[in-house]
Amino acid sequence: MSDARVHVERDGDIAVIVIDNPPINAGSAPVRQGVMAAVRQLEADATLQGAVLIGAGNTFIAGSDLREFGQPLAEPQLPAVIAAIETCSKPVVAALHGAALGGGLELALGCDARVAAPGTVVGLPEVTLGIIPGAGGTQRLPRLVGIPRAIRMICGGERFAAPAALETGIVDAIAEGDLRSVAVAHARALAGRKQRLRDRAVPAADATAIDEAVHTALKTGKRRPAVQAAIDAVIESAHVPIDEALADEGAVFQRLRVSREAFALRHQVFAEQDSTMHPALEGAVPRAVQRVAVIGAGTMGSGIAIAGLEAGYDVLLLEQDGAALERGATRIHEHFAGRVQSGKLKASAAAAAEARLQASLDWSRLAEVDLVIEAVFEQLDVKRQVFERIDTNARPGAVLASNTSYLDLDAIAATTRRPQDVIGLHFFSPANVMKLLEVVRGKATAPDALATGLAVGKKLRKMAVLTGNAFGFIGNRIYSAYRRQCEFMIEEGASPEQVDAALQRFGFAMGPFAVADLSGLDIAWRMRQAQAATRDPAARYVHIPDRLCEAGRLGRKTGAGYYVYPAGAKGPQVDPAVRALIEQCRAEKGIAARAFDNGEIVRRAMLAIVNEAALLLAEGVAERATDIDVVLVNGYGFPRWEGGPVFWARDQGEAALSAGMDDLAHNSGPGFVRGDLKHVLTEGASA
Ligand code: NAI
Repeated sequence: MSDARVHVERDGDIAVIVIDNPPINAGSAPVRQGVMAAVRQLEADATLQGAVLIGAGNTFIAGSDLREFGQPLAEPQLPAVIAAIETCSKPVVAALHGAALGGGLELALGCDARVAAPGTVVGLPEVTLGIIPGAGGTQRLPRLVGIPRAIRMICGGERFAAPAALETGIVDAIAEGDLRSVAVAHARALAGRKQRLRDRAVPAADATAIDEAVHTALKTGKRRPAVQAAIDAVIESAHVPIDEALADEGAVFQRLRVSREAFALRHQVFAEQDSTMHPALEGAVPRAVQRVAVIGAGTMGSGIAIAGLEAGYDVLLLEQDGAALERGATRIHEHFAGRVQSGKLKASAAAAAEARLQASLDWSRLAEVDLVIEAVFEQLDVKRQVFERIDTNARPGAVLASNTSYLDLDAIAATTRRPQDVIGLHFFSPANVMKLLEVVRGKATAPDALATGLAVGKKLRKMAVLTGNAFGFIGNRIYSAYRRQCEFMIEEGASPEQVDAALQRFGFAMGPFAVADLSGLDIAWRMRQAQAATRDPAARYVHIPDRLCEAGRLGRKTGAGYYVYPAGAKGPQVDPAVRALIEQCRAEKGIAARAFDNGEIVRRAMLAIVNEAALLLAEGVAERATDIDVVLVNGYGFPRWEGGPVFWARDQGEAALSAGMDDLAHNSGPGFVRGDLKHVLTEGASA
């Protein structure tokens, strides 16, 4: 019997059911039908004693077809396939390699035994998609690993490598030799026996251990609905008969998969998948990169060097002076020592990474590298001088990148004789932690140089997004429109703490004023001073941040900004002096303070983001609306479960959005530039 996605081979008295649905053997409807048919064949054929379920290619079932989750699910659904395996009188052994994730692991848990090749990873990441495992994962896993561990694993979306999977009992054996032969032997040894997980009792667990697991899961899972639902389902496994508990799990899964949150999370996954695939770059082959030079060993340079070393690159760290170089090298060393000390990295791995670092003051060594990343002071003349030196020393064909946040990449590239090789690689601070990487296209940048930037981003495990060369690129440009709107609101009557609390409740990791205090108010202050001469004199301008800076309140580093930070206090404290300063600013403009509610605050902040997104799309700085969602979620603490501002905008509907924009324009006063919403509403992937 054969199916396009599943076929059955024979190894003597054992059927080998092969799932062949490249690239990840996703458990789509044809796969489910194929497995179902193969199990029927196993039951019917008296010459067969048992079966092995295995994936073709380089993986078992590494996940589901996410697009299916937004639509009515085709029959047979996975629980029915698993029920067929369980009711089949003959044993079925799952042979795992690559990844067995989500429905893939659930299918394996429905089998009578599991053997895994070394290097296999297993996990139930459903909660990260706003759903719970819907094919028995919440019931069968606890029977193997106990309630506390099942909660940790499911709620944390944790993945286990083969040794941990063996230790916890998720797999019965690791196949040292040929996986298929080992699994066939295992199936033969089981002949005549069934050992279904459903027939096992859930191991008794200590109430404190369960409470601890629940508490941690809720905290790290930000109390999202899927986390609570997964906890409830796992706990049910201990006291509700399995068929009833499976029915409950299934009902919750069906409800959650069509929830707004699940659509939002899937949208974000599709947007992230799309962000590195650009039609304009099709056919462009990334240049080979192994050796990377980082120029400037400050905050960003040392973070970028760490990221490079951790990804396996050879890193040459260059500086202008010995003391700064020494400080940078020490910072890098301390990072690795800290990781070893906290048990996150093996000493041997840290030593291997550090051995790939070379710190030098000799710029002629730039000739050795494939990629240069400049991270010196944010001053155009300094950067131009540095690029002249890079141009003199780097080999032809090397990609030359700047980490500038705001400067004109074309003005930097113009100092070289090879602007086609110049890109922006805009990392976020701390560069070894933050996921987002903006890859900036200059007017002369060659497609393969740009493709190299995206490939390097992938190797660094960053979320790389392509952006045009414009002031603030995508992220900082949107963020400053958002912050400006929040400043408008405090000028009109809201307080900084009210705005922060409303946006944090919406889901932002931090409110904009707490963020401003954390990063320092002086950066934006200097920028406003630099732009003063060219600013539209009619445009609305809020003086509050300038006044704070003039009073020496530069944020956390000076102990005061929008908030105060007295020694010993936990976090930002509201300061009456700030209230007085804001009231003074309002009085000078004759603004009578009015009350705001949280809904209005969130709405205005979101509309400001959406409007700036529309402008960026019209200018071609962002190519696709959904790239903006990737930027905000991965670089600016925007709540992933809200899908990003574009998802939010599409969810509002065109009429409501357009009315909201009328209000926004009215509230923002003179100088407000309104974007055309059509790009936001139509371009890029959708769930
Ligand atoms: P930093 O002041 O901590 O480090 C700059 C380093 O560059 C210093 O060690 C300095 O000695 C070195 N340097 C200066 N001139 C040099 C020259 N001519 N040749 C060689 N080395 C030289 O600055 P930070 O914060 O690391 O910023 C560096 C760049 O990264 C800037 O372009 C900044 O806009 C950008 N950036 C900064 C972010 C941040 O949050 N700090 C975020 C994203 C980008």
